[in-house]
This record gives sequence, C-alpha cells and structure tokens, in this order.
Amino acid sequence: MKTYSVAILGATGMVGQHYIRMLQNHPWFRIKTLTGKDSVGRKYVEAVRGEAPEPPKEVAEMEVQPTDPKHVDADFVFSCLPTEAAREAEPRFAEAGFPVFSDAAAFRMEEDVPLIVPEVNPDHLHLVKAQRKNRGWGGFIVTTPNCTTVGLVLPLHPINRQLGVKRVTATTLQAVSGAGYPGVASLSILGNVIPYISGEERKVETETAKILGRFDGGRIAFDDVDVLATCTRVPTIDGHMESLVFETEKKTDKETVANLLAEYVSLPQELNLPTAPRKPIIVRPEEDRPQTRIDVDAGSVPGMSVTVGRIRVVENKVRLISLSHNLIRGAAGGTILTAELAHHFGLLEG
Ligand SMILES: NC(=O)c1ccc[n+]([C@@H]2O[C@H](COP(=O)([O-])OP(=O)(O)OC[C@H]3O[C@@H](n4cnc5c(N)ncnc54)[C@H](OP(=O)(O)O)[C@@H]3O)[C@@H](O)[C@H]2O)c1
Repeated sequence: MKTYSVAILGATGMVGQHYIRMLQNHPWFRIKTLTGKDSVGRKYVEAVRGEAPEPPKEVAEMEVQPTDPKHVDADFVFSCLPTEAAREAEPRFAEAGFPVFSDAAAFRMEEDVPLIVPEVNPDHLHLVKAQRKNRGWGGFIVTTPNCTTVGLVLPLHPINRQLGVKRVTATTLQAVSGAGYPGVASLSILGNVIPYISGEERKVETETAKILGRFDGGRIAFDDVDVLATCTRVPTIDGHMESLVFETEKKTDKETVANLLAEYVSLPQELNLPTAPRKPIIVRPEEDRPQTRIDVDAGSVPGMSVTVGRIRVVENKVRLISLSHNLIRGAAGGTILTAELAHHFGLLEG
C-alpha cells in the first residue's frame, strides 16, 4: 500500500495536536512537516500550546517551519490555520500543487470548494475537478464544516433521506476547546454560560444546506432545509452538545427514528477506511444520556461517533440530543477521514 507524506499547517494548536495523535500509526499517512507562526524555528515539543499530552518522539523534536509552500515537503497538507491565515495561505499551497484538507472557515462556502462530512456527501469531493479547472491549480482545497454543523448534519442525514426533514431548530452547548487555545478567558466562562459565539449560527445554517445539497457532477444545488440555530458556550472542555427539534414530512415514531440512526452506515464504513468508526451514530436509550464527560469519546475510533439520545417523537415532531467531539469528528478526525476518501477516489494521485 502506498504511503503519503503529510504536512500539518497550524500544528501547535488545539486541532493540530489531535492530528498528531490521530496520525500516529496511521497506515497510509506519515507526518513530515509541521508549520506555525510564532513557534517557527522551535522544537514542536517546546512550541505546542496548552496542556498537550507528550507528543510522539518522532514529532517532538521536529522544528516548526514557516507556513509557506517553499518550506513544506509533503504529498498533501492538513490545514488547521485560523480563518484569516487560511484565506491567505491555502490558495498558495493549492497553486503550488498541494491537495489541501482544511478545517478553517475561509473557503467552505465557495461554489467550487467541497464541504465534506464523509458519510453524508462523499460524492461532493469530485467538485475538486471543476475547482482545479476554474482556478488553474495543480492542487485543490477541500473543507470540513464547522464543528457544530457536523453534530447536526450527521444525525439529520439518515432521517432526512427516509422521512424528509423541515424546519430544524438547533440550540447548542459548546465546549471551550472549540475556541482554540487560549480561547475564552477562564474568568469569563467558569460558572457561566455565554449565549453568543461570533459567526457560529450563520455557519451552521448555511453549511447544512450545502452539505445536504445535490451534486450534479458540475455544481451543488443547495438543499432547502430551514435551520434556525442558537449557539452558546458552556464550561465543558471538549464536546459540543446540541438540542435538535424538527418536523418530518411523514409521520413517524420513536422506534423508527432510533433505528434509522442506529443502523446508519455509509461509504466510509463500507470501505472500512482506517478512521471510519463502525457506527457513525451511537444511540443511547437511557433518559440521561448522552452526557458530555461520559460520551464524548464514544465509538470504535474514539471521538469519531456522534452520540444521540433523548429521542422524543410526537406525530411528525422530533426532539433529540446530539453530542460530538469538536476536535475529533468536528475537525482533525473528520478531515483525516475525508483525505482517506480522497485517496479512495484517486484524488491524491496528482
Ligand atoms: N477548536 C475546534 O474545536 C475547532 C473545530 C473545527 C475547526 N476549527 C478551526 O481549526 C482552525 C484551528 O483551530 P485551533 O482551535 O486549533 O486554533 P489554535 O489553538 O488557536 O491554533 C492555531 C494554530 O495556527 C497557527 N497560526 C496562527 N496564526 C498563524 C498565521 N498567521 N500563519 C500561520 N500559522 C498561524 C498557530 O501557530 P503558532 O503557535 O506557531 O503561532 C497554531 O498552530 C481554526 O480555523 C478553527 O476555526 C477549530
């Protein structure tokens, strides 16, 4: 099996640390270059932000490089740069011939840029062919949605396919690691709930329509799903919880909804990709689950499954709670799975 060398842009941050952990022992991808900004020239182990676990030996001693294609030697890159840095750097990498798999918001909503949840819209990856042609790039940019969008779209997809979903109201309780490091000041968040996260609600609303949209081989026609989001920050460390309320076009019941979710598998599971959890959605029957501390790392690939519970159905009105790991399924893990799919589609072959 061919292996690929990879670079991580923004490797010292919260998401970067999860790439390093998840790529350790990856069967196809080998870390070759780490980049940053303030930490350039330092050893990774000295530069890494926050209370990070000890990095693996082969990474600890690597020197952090400038975020510049000239300093990067790799077959493709994972980008976990802040939005503004990504807006400037990612096109330079794509132009220089690198496939770029990005967690940043900068290009998610561009018409020719795929926005991928691997189980939900794997076919949208083929949009990179149009992107390369439009932009004259040797490489391309593929994006992962906002971490909150992922926890909404994954459970919505199997229900939407079978029963049709309309008018979704989402209320989120988002962990502090979602804001990066150092993120929200401890004096602002301890013992508190902040009912506002800048830009988050619009991202959840627009990204969902793109991901659930139909790809005709050339462009994506957005789905007409109507999402109303209220996003709040709560004093948990990792894991975004969401209360989802929606109507289905057909009448349904609790058992049908629970079965649709629990039995959901898609292309990453059929292909048995290395980072695909056996069950993308885990359904908890207990009245008091999911709980952030107990369930955030659930699944055969820890943190890659969304846990759903508290399913309540009255005629065609559904309420449930979803919990997803913002740094794993919502960022590094989701994006690694997308790159695995891209390999399956032959998109990493230059
Ligand atoms: N946190 C989450 O749950 C989450 C989830 C999904 C998506 N995301 C997205 O993922 C990205 C990274 O988030 P994070 O939480 O890991 O952020 P973070 O902890 O603040 O880390 C930011 C990283 O980017 C580097 N960096 C900052 N400015 C740079 C610049 N101008 N040029 C090059 N490198 C620069 C930093 O390097 P130095 O240390 O060397 O300065 C650091 O490695 C963001 O776009 C975020 O929106 C985050």
